[in-house]
Amino acid sequence: MQLFLDTASVTEIRTMWEIGILDGVTTNPTLVAKEGRTFESVLREICDLGVPSVSAEVVATDTEGMLREGRHLRGFHPAIYVKIPMTPAGLRATRILAGEGTRVNMTLVFSANQALLAAKVGATYVSPFIGRLDDQGQDGMELVRDIVTIYRNYRVPTKVLVASVRHPMHVVEGAKVGADIATMPYTVMEKLVQHPLTDLGLARFLKDWEKVPKG
Ligand code: E4P
Repeated sequence: MQLFLDTASVTEIRTMWEIGILDGVTTNPTLVAKEGRTFESVLREICDLGVPSVSAEVVATDTEGMLREGRHLRGFHPAIYVKIPMTPAGLRATRILAGEGTRVNMTLVFSANQALLAAKVGATYVSPFIGRLDDQGQDGMELVRDIVTIYRNYRVPTKVLVASVRHPMHVVEGAKVGADIATMPYTVMEKLVQHPLTDLGLARFLKDWEKVPKG
């Protein structure tokens, strides 16, 4: 499974990119707003790191506006995937952009039927928001399982990107059900690396090493 960071922080992205465990980045208007810089300057720095997949979201709500922004973003850098919301205007824009060869990440997906439609219009990624479903008492992972099953049934090439991840078990569960990608906050990716027994084990090895006679 590919691991993406869900952030617009260049510092966070650089850290994971340099470790070598990062496959891509997803941003959204909320994450960009936290950086206090222009969208394009943030995007430029992220793309220049060499991350191969960077999702950047349109903010227009009409098809024409989405097409305008989507084409601009597509031309911004070869790593860009254009994020389009799951609305009738978004579906129409996705069909047109995908027809032009633009890779679209269809976002704000909360049902299996929406995922079916995203595939139908040629989205490259579909992003079910599982944490937001969990937050309101629905099982977000059940949705991911349904989408993976449906896409397999029909050999749909659209990749399932588990979004709105809240904790490491979302990543494990996503991998178990066969999702292609999980995008997560920096704090969650940090937790994928850590285990208290690793830290304890290392501390003991280093302590015992002090007892080894040194020549
Ligand atoms: C996905 O691409 C979104 O940016 C994201 O995962 C939203 O997550 P949130 O529910 O934590 O805002």
